[in-house]
Amino acid sequence: MNILIAGGGGREHALAWKIAQSDQCDKLYCAPGNAGTAELGENLPIKADDIPAIVAAAKEKNVGLVVVGPEDPLAAGMVDAVRAAGIMCFGPVAEGARLEADKAFAKELMRSASVPTAEARIFKDLKNARDYVLSRDHGVVVKAAGLAKGKGVFVCPEPHMAVKPLEQIMTEKVFGDAGQTVVVEDLLTGQEASILALCDGRNIYTLEACQDHKPVGDGDTGPNTGGMGAYSPTPIVDGEMMAKIEREVLVPIVDAMRRSFGRYEGCLYAGLMLTPAGPKVLEFNCRFGDPETQPMMMRYKSDIVEAMVATCEHKLGDIEIQWDPRPAVCVVMASGGYPGPYEKGREITGIAEAEAMGDVKVFHAGTAIADGKVVTAGGRVLGVTALGETIAAAQKRAYEAVDKIHFQDAYCRRDIADKALQE
Ligand code: AMP
Ligand code: GLY
Repeated sequence: MNILIAGGGGREHALAWKIAQSDQCDKLYCAPGNAGTAELGENLPIKADDIPAIVAAAKEKNVGLVVVGPEDPLAAGMVDAVRAAGIMCFGPVAEGARLEADKAFAKELMRSASVPTAEARIFKDLKNARDYVLSRDHGVVVKAAGLAKGKGVFVCPEPHMAVKPLEQIMTEKVFGDAGQTVVVEDLLTGQEASILALCDGRNIYTLEACQDHKPVGDGDTGPNTGGMGAYSPTPIVDGEMMAKIEREVLVPIVDAMRRSFGRYEGCLYAGLMLTPAGPKVLEFNCRFGDPETQPMMMRYKSDIVEAMVATCEHKLGDIEIQWDPRPAVCVVMASGGYPGPYEKGREITGIAEAEAMGDVKVFHAGTAIADGKVVTAGGRVLGVTALGETIAAAQKRAYEAVDKIHFQDAYCRRDIADKALQE
């Protein structure tokens, strides 16, 4: 069948790369895609969140499966619209996507289902929020409740540090409507893990654990980003921990959603802090992670289309996913300045040399083709991903590959996966 992927980031290139390997995939379309997906299929000049245009393209191109990558179109009801047109669509309906798109709703659902998470208060008024944070004697985390591309979260080790972000979100409205409601929660400590699971409304199929690196700087310093690198599997989530996460987090939240609005279908992503008191949820996402998907797809040995169709047809119980046992490490190369303002249009060289090393795949994110050359077109530009016999070997190979790639003002963290090596 023909398959259409909505999105154009690193996650979508990684999904496209894996989907294109499936016997079930005839023609692959990406809307809008990037320079990487252009090599695997046809890019359509349609924005990832243009629901009517995606539905029209899916009909016109005789698409049998639409895969929605990013959160915005999911929250806006793309799955509902594609299904209404009689086309299979991978992802949750808008009500399911609310778990990510509305952090206040997610908090309340977690509370109702006794899912472990940080204690939190929800505010719509700056004065009340400010009074609250200044009454705390521990660190707090301020979060814009709506979608803010991973940038709407401010970790404040001292309560007074929360005042400025509250003002930016609530008065200056730097995240627009996404900051109308603010969640203020207790600061948790521990290692973070990303647990992704396929859900078909009946079954939950947990994928291999990953660890992301959200802050822009080495040693987890600086502002939060969409994610500067990831690796999988992570030794901090062993079999026992995974079973606990399934029991205490995934099963109760999926049940709570079923009670609240119906079946959650698609990929469910739990961002967790592994605290001394056990795993606690930092956030839920209603989609595959970016950049977690890059190392994950590098290790995924089965047919991803089979798993996506099984998810849509409520048959996850019938499939078995095989993984490459070798770890994969993905280092994000970003445009200098990201997550703040940055230049675009810089020529990228060295990708072929990096991939020629073997066991290296360079996933494109913010890239485009201009005058026949691959150029930068976004904040996160590439996800340089490598397999190795150990995490240390995968990390070494990933950085060797990074060092073969050049564009002006390229920036990457130099410590991706270090945490796994310190264990
Ligand atoms: P979120 O988008 O809610 O996952 O938050 C982005 C990042 O902020 C997380 O990956 C953590 O690094 C950090 N963070 C969020 N909530 C907390 C919390 N309650 N305690 C400590 N760090 C947090
Ligand atoms: N890597 C974090 C996210 O996908 O939201």
